[in-house]
Amino acid sequence: MNALTRCLDTYWSSSIGKKLIVAITGLVLVVFLAGHLSGNLLMYVGREAFNEYAHFLHTMLHGAGVWIARIGLLVMLVLHVAATISLTRQNRAARQAYEHKATIQASKSSRIMIVSGLTILAFVIFHILHYTVRVDSDLAKLGATDPYGMVVVGFRNPLVVIFYVISMTLLCSHLSHGVASIFQTLGLRSKKAQGLIKQISLAYSLAIWAGFISIPISVLAGIINL
Ligand code: HEM
Repeated sequence: MNALTRCLDTYWSSSIGKKLIVAITGLVLVVFLAGHLSGNLLMYVGREAFNEYAHFLHTMLHGAGVWIARIGLLVMLVLHVAATISLTRQNRAARQAYEHKATIQASKSSRIMIVSGLTILAFVIFHILHYTVRVDSDLAKLGATDPYGMVVVGFRNPLVVIFYVISMTLLCSHLSHGVASIFQTLGLRSKKAQGLIKQISLAYSLAIWAGFISIPISVLAGIINL
């Protein structure tokens, strides 16, 4: 067993270790979302700026950069989901042994996290088929030369926009709870800082929600167009 699998095994065998895995992978995904949104907001600057940005992403480190990011994100996502499932199973077993009001409350909020988390997972699969794999042949043709045009045409379908808005809303709910939990797991949530951390989590989630939903809505409203 090499050092990395030994280290993961140590973390995986304890519940606090798994919580740390959920927190650290969650933090990486939270940072990714801020970066992805910043890049996507270039849609408001115009076709040239957005296409230059997309070109940069695909050519950095001679094309290896985008694959390093993809593999890194996939590892983070798999670890995040697997550790959450394992923790949920562990909590359920503990709950059966000891029923208490507080545990029932905790399970309610973790159920909301699981439902929003699974919807985000379904969204990410749809989103990758939509804009990265480009299963739609019209989007595939545009994606190769004009990513800006591909995003605009992709959001001309109101059903797609509704799906994005619902998914982003659940993402916002997931983040507002998740970001505060990261602080707690990393031991950064003192009683004094609790209120501030709650506000930071909510402000961050709302900013991510508003930024992401604004793009498909602006396309439908004709504010972003070809
Ligand atoms: C309006 C909102 C969004 C827009 C306009 C958008 C746009 C895009 C585009 C154009 C790509 C393709 C990049 C390429 O391969 O050229 C992409 C990829 C991706 N997006 Fe988004 N995105 C949005 C929201 C999100 C959200 C909320 C998430 C995560 C929850 C997300 C996660 C990803 C991932 C994981 C990829 C795959 C990266 C890759 O392998 O290429 N996106 N997005």
